[in-house]
Amino acid sequence: MPLTFASKTASSIPVHLVAIATASAFLDAAPAAQAAQARLHGFSGKLGQTCLLHDADGALSAVFFGMGDASSRARGRFPLAALPPGLPDGTYHLAGDIANPDAAALAWMLSQYRFARYRRDPGEPGAHLVAPDGVDAARIEAIANSVALTRDLINTPANDMGPDALEAAFRALGAEFGAEIAVVAGDGLLDANFPMIHAVGRASDQAPRLLEMTWGAADHPAVTLVGKGVCFDTGGLNLKPGSSMGLMKKDMGGAATTMGLARMIMAARLPLRLRLLIPAVENAVSAGAFRPGDILTSRSGLTVEINNTDAEGRLVLADALALANETPPELMFCMATLTGAARVALGPDMPPFYTDDDGLADDLAAAAGRVADPIWRMPFHAPYEAMIEPGIADLDNAPAGGFAGSITAALFLRRFVPDTARFAHFDVFGWTPSAKPGRPKGGECQAARAIFDLLERRYGA
Ligand code: BES
Ligand code: MN
Ligand code: ZN
Repeated sequence: MPLTFASKTASSIPVHLVAIATASAFLDAAPAAQAAQARLHGFSGKLGQTCLLHDADGALSAVFFGMGDASSRARGRFPLAALPPGLPDGTYHLAGDIANPDAAALAWMLSQYRFARYRRDPGEPGAHLVAPDGVDAARIEAIANSVALTRDLINTPANDMGPDALEAAFRALGAEFGAEIAVVAGDGLLDANFPMIHAVGRASDQAPRLLEMTWGAADHPAVTLVGKGVCFDTGGLNLKPGSSMGLMKKDMGGAATTMGLARMIMAARLPLRLRLLIPAVENAVSAGAFRPGDILTSRSGLTVEINNTDAEGRLVLADALALANETPPELMFCMATLTGAARVALGPDMPPFYTDDDGLADDLAAAAGRVADPIWRMPFHAPYEAMIEPGIADLDNAPAGGFAGSITAALFLRRFVPDTARFAHFDVFGWTPSAKPGRPKGGECQAARAIFDLLERRYGA
């Protein structure tokens, strides 16, 4: 079900967002009966506090929702998203002055996301919002539905989201926006010189492939997105223990996030020449699997010694990045569930990103703050380059010792984009481990809204 705003109606119920600092003045100015009810309930504007006000007939006449103070709001992301699930079915509008109407509108939309594919009775959300004044409703709907696409793709288990299904979803996305699609698969990867995508994915029943989408006028500024599409990561022959494998349906989270971001860009018709590259594979175990000790020659010619078949993401990305680098765009973004080390460093909710462009880093950080999509810059620390080249090949895919795991993975990727001046790589987690307002447990679209905000500001009309 697409996430949508309600159309304007005279009977919609007002929702007042009330911060602690203004709560008593607000109640003084409110209709006496409502203020009395709210005071009776001790309404103080505390974050998340909800008062349903009734008229003399017992009908719902207004809602007061506490917006807390800056320090309590800083502990969450979409505070208003806590409200709609507890409201009676109906149509609502936001009343009074709203500090950030876009954020409020998006919070409401995201609170209505459900992963319903495997539910016989998914239960439709019943509290609908009229788009607040000054909000571009279509834009917020597009962002919310793009986030929903990413979440759905990640949440869908690998038995229904292998390389075949990911390709189908990729084609459907392209068809929705009239984008061009090209796919190289199976042995075609060897003929077209994508040897590492083939090596990682060849053990699966579903052929490995490289998905490519192109959209927008050829003379617009070129932006290339590359997403890790490992539909399931067993670890390969260096098999993951069961406890680490359990969540690995989400190892196509980078692909899903770049698809969500591409959808935002195309829905907004940003004047860009967009290229999206996704190596889609399953890192499986079979007699044909690539092995520890194997040395692969990558698309770019760099050789890679396989120290651990579980460091597969950087291999498939390397060939896709090398292709992207052959036509250097103005901006390139790579997104991948690349390392467990990123989550150890920054936790599940704040992906690290890497770039050599300080202006891009600053603009990304500012965008992330504006749209509540936190990211944190980590360094391409050149002194650690030696860690990825200790062996008999040019590169080692899994440095022994495991120090600086997210950084060494990022350095590995950078080797394949030597001609791309503005490159940023995001080591995303792609998952919310426990539910928060607007963020149910499960697949999550991280960093895409921040990147989209940056692109809108740099290139939007
Ligand atoms: N997909 C994993 C990384 C991952 C694990 C992301 C858990 C999020 C949560 C990746 O393919 C991987 O296994 N990386 C290894 C690399 C190591 C073998 C050098 C890792 O991080 O342990
Ligand atoms: Mn792995
Ligand atoms: Zn992986």
